Amino acid sequence: MFVDAASYERFMGRWSAVLAPGFLDAVDLGDGHGVVVDVGCGTGNLASAVLDRWPDASVVGVDPSEAFVESARRRFGDSGFRGEVGYAAALPLPDAAADATLALLVLNFLPDPAAGVADMRRVTRPGGVVGATVWDYGGGMAMLRTYWDAAAAVRPDAAAVDEALASPARAGGIEALFAGAGLTDVRGGLLEVGMRFETFDDYWRPFLLGIGPAGDFTRALDDAGREALRAELLRRLGDGPVEMTSTARWVRGLVPA
Ligand SMILES: C[S@@+](CC[C@H](N)C(=O)[O-])C[C@H]1O[C@@H](n2cnc3c(N)ncnc32)[C@H](O)[C@@H]1O
Repeated sequence: MFVDAASYERFMGRWSAVLAPGFLDAVDLGDGHGVVVDVGCGTGNLASAVLDRWPDASVVGVDPSEAFVESARRRFGDSGFRGEVGYAAALPLPDAAADATLALLVLNFLPDPAAGVADMRRVTRPGGVVGATVWDYGGGMAMLRTYWDAAAAVRPDAAAVDEALASPARAGGIEALFAGAGLTDVRGGLLEVGMRFETFDDYWRPFLLGIGPAGDFTRALDDAGREALRAELLRRLGDGPVEMTSTARWVRGLVPA
């Protein structure tokens, strides 16, 4: 579900790019932006926000998707970005190598989120920042909440794969992970992204690209099921323009000195 970089950008990257600068403000790296690890870097939207703000930073992007890492490498060339194929729970970095380790829209996709946060802590130096954000799937993530509610209305099996079920997506989920990893001064909050879809199709068509759990679910439907879902979403959203605000939860903690 995370293979084609252009499709990812069309479905989610256009919004993660908007979320990234607000996330950087929230986690507040202070002067600690020399080496920044971007866990689950995807096509590089967080790395781009870091390098826009601090052109002298070195970003190490890690993602299991070879296609995404390759796309990010092409995007940055030699300017401050190193892309590595790897996993959050086994980051290809030595202990305490980073000033900050961040994950934008990733923790809910990890098979073992606690192991991922533990490794984020391991690679970050004492006093460094570990930070993460995930969409508020069960509440204010309007783009996907609307999708999953409509899907459950026409297909009862949708409820079992609703993205709100992942523990990091729940209220307090990411704060508990950070406290459990022994990070200190853990704090968090909400970020908002205004989303405007010029037409209903601008909202709907990216779901056909097979990106993420919602794209996966849409693709697996037969033609009749897909048409029923499209009709239910059109009934809820109208022809467009469609405007909504989507909310993400963020958290940051410090590695004890
Ligand atoms: C929603 S995308 C976010 C990408 C990017 N951070 C952004 O915000 O645009 C989720 C990313 O998590 C990556 N991912 C999935 N499983 C992972 C794992 N075990 N370790 C690290 N990254 C993972 C996916 O390949 C994908 O790039």
